[in-house]
Amino acid sequence: MDYRTRLGLVVAVAALVGTRQAVAQEASAPAGVTPAAIATGDTIFHKSGLCYACHGTNAEGGVGPNLTDGEWLHGDGSYDTIVATVTTGVPADKAKKGIPMPPKGGSSITDEEVKAVAAYVYSLSHK
Ligand code: HEC
Repeated sequence: MDYRTRLGLVVAVAALVGTRQAVAQEASAPAGVTPAAIATGDTIFHKSGLCYACHGTNAEGGVGPNLTDGEWLHGDGSYDTIVATVTTGVPADKAKKGIPMPPKGGSSITDEEVKAVAAYVYSLSHK
């Protein structure tokens, strides 16, 4: 096998691996993270959930941390962890930056709405 053939093979294999990774990533979106849940969550984030008030309209941070950067103070950024954090909030003694987050951000959204807003937050950091 000459150099060019080998190079061609390497490129072909790399392309294959790349495609498989992309497919795997799409397939790995957690069950609750559907386009419909993300759209509902977007509205909740900016309205009834009050999230925008502390995390900013673009969710890039304010009183509360940036939710778009893939860096997490609490948990690993998985959908389940986000649902848990939003449900319980961050009590004062667990707040890493000294400011607590009330359960559900102090809003009165339902558990179903928490799941939708968590799907939205998940989508922001898993593009
Ligand atoms: C009153 C202000 C406030 C509101 C309203 C609020 N948060 Fe927070 N949130 C915070 C603060 C402050 C923290 C980080 C606490 C710390 O320093 O550990 C936080 C942390 C988080 C985290 C964990 C971030 C990480 O890096 O691990 C998530 C996820 C989150 N909030 C989502 C939401 C969602 C969704 C809503 C709306 C339902 C919401 N928050 C409403 C203040 C708020």
